[in-house]
Amino acid sequence: MEAEMCPHVLLFPLPIQSPINSMLQLAELFCLAGLQVTFLNTNHNQHLLCRHTNVESRFRQYPKFQFRTIPDGLPEEHPRSSELFGELISSLQAVAQPFLREILPGVTCVIPDGLFYYAVDIGNEVGVSVIPFDTISPSCLWVYLSFPKLIEAGDIPFKGNDLDVLIENVPGMQGLLRRRDFPFYRLTNCATDLYCQLALKEIRSIPRSHGLILNTFEDLDGPLLSLIRSHCPKAYAVGPLHLQLKTRLADKRMPLPSSNSLWEEDHSSIQWLDVQPIESVIYVSFGSLATLTREEILEFWHGLVNSGIRFLWVMRSNLLREEEFNHQFVKELMEGCKERAYTVTWAPQEKVLAHPAIGGFLTHSGWNSTMESIVQGKPMICWAVYVDQRVTSRFVGEVWKIGVDMKDICDRYIIEKVVKDLMVTNKDTFKKSANNLSMLGKQSVGEGGSSYNAFEYLVEDIKKLGRRGKDTNPNCIG
Ligand code: UDX
Repeated sequence: MEAEMCPHVLLFPLPIQSPINSMLQLAELFCLAGLQVTFLNTNHNQHLLCRHTNVESRFRQYPKFQFRTIPDGLPEEHPRSSELFGELISSLQAVAQPFLREILPGVTCVIPDGLFYYAVDIGNEVGVSVIPFDTISPSCLWVYLSFPKLIEAGDIPFKGNDLDVLIENVPGMQGLLRRRDFPFYRLTNCATDLYCQLALKEIRSIPRSHGLILNTFEDLDGPLLSLIRSHCPKAYAVGPLHLQLKTRLADKRMPLPSSNSLWEEDHSSIQWLDVQPIESVIYVSFGSLATLTREEILEFWHGLVNSGIRFLWVMRSNLLREEEFNHQFVKELMEGCKERAYTVTWAPQEKVLAHPAIGGFLTHSGWNSTMESIVQGKPMICWAVYVDQRVTSRFVGEVWKIGVDMKDICDRYIIEKVVKDLMVTNKDTFKKSANNLSMLGKQSVGEGGSSYNAFEYLVEDIKKLGRRGKDTNPNCIG
């Protein structure tokens, strides 16, 4: 074994866009810190990543970095959609478990997505430290950690249909969290619900982990982080991760990272934004997985058009729940509002949010989108679909007060009203709180900031694990 083998980190993201993006950012940060890094991707996603980005050549500058791939166990034609997410998770688990058992003894520590609870079991079995990276929002993770209490108190599953009832047994969220803000708001039986069971397995694995990585910063989620640390003292808040990476690359005068997209980015969106007035455009995107019905798309469309505000909308080819997008449908929608609207199938989102023409973001409240919007100080309208999005959107509206939580209402008149509210009527109020949070996020990743320090502690901790491993492994001399 060579000197560079120590310490060696294995990163294993959930096979969807957002965690792949965050894990690649973390991988590059580890490369900058001099660690040896293996990034474990599925064949399917690696193929998409290599097709649409320059990650292979970008990471070639780090000699201690390597990609490894495994099949996800699904046939190539499988849609890997949000509706069939459960199939993807179980088939990948069947492939990943034996693979991890084989590869883990050769690494210092493994960083799986928080949902891969089984990596903690395997790590403990073979004596390798596990530091899961929970790529969902910490507010949702805290709700998960409160599940046993909620089940014991009889709060979940809900009795009756009133979604406005407050859930009072999540410490730190009393008077805030309504049933409609709960990750699984349609839950009827936790024992048979795949996602509830996954969440329970995930939280049971947390106290058995060496630590936990979260993409947040102390000034944003401080009170929740204190609560999470009662379950896992070493919770490293290293976010906003994309900004931490950019800041450290800029400090080293290295080129900034380009895209980690699984789809081809359409840069004509930036050209279109270049000719729009400052803060005049609302950016509309529902992330990489959420799907909408045709009716919902039409409600959004009419609401946006009637608001009179310009908009840039990402219409993924798989955004429509029932069918592949018929381009005629989009073309017909575009007729009549060409001057004020622009659509693309996938945008360079970080660049879009950084653009001066963008005044707000209509989002599904995915955690990456939320962090990217916070960094750019862009107020949000939240239309949450599932899981962490439902909790996050509540925090956007009621705790951080940097936007409007529309939750799950899809009505053209309400959409028109909230768009005007965000972009015109209460623009200055939202802008002020969004700018303040943006400033705090930027400070956190600057030298001496909380997230900057948390990343330094994390690397130091991994190096200590490497030294411990060296004592037991005479071949390891790094
Ligand atoms: C999923 C879940 O839906 C979400 O609840 C969870 O918080 C993370 O995983 P996803 O739908 O992928 O999230 O949304 P999000 O977390 O917002 O991430 C999407 C990523 O894709 C962002 O980093 C965003 O910059 C990028 N993106 C999105 C683009 O680059 N271009 C686009 O057009 C849209």
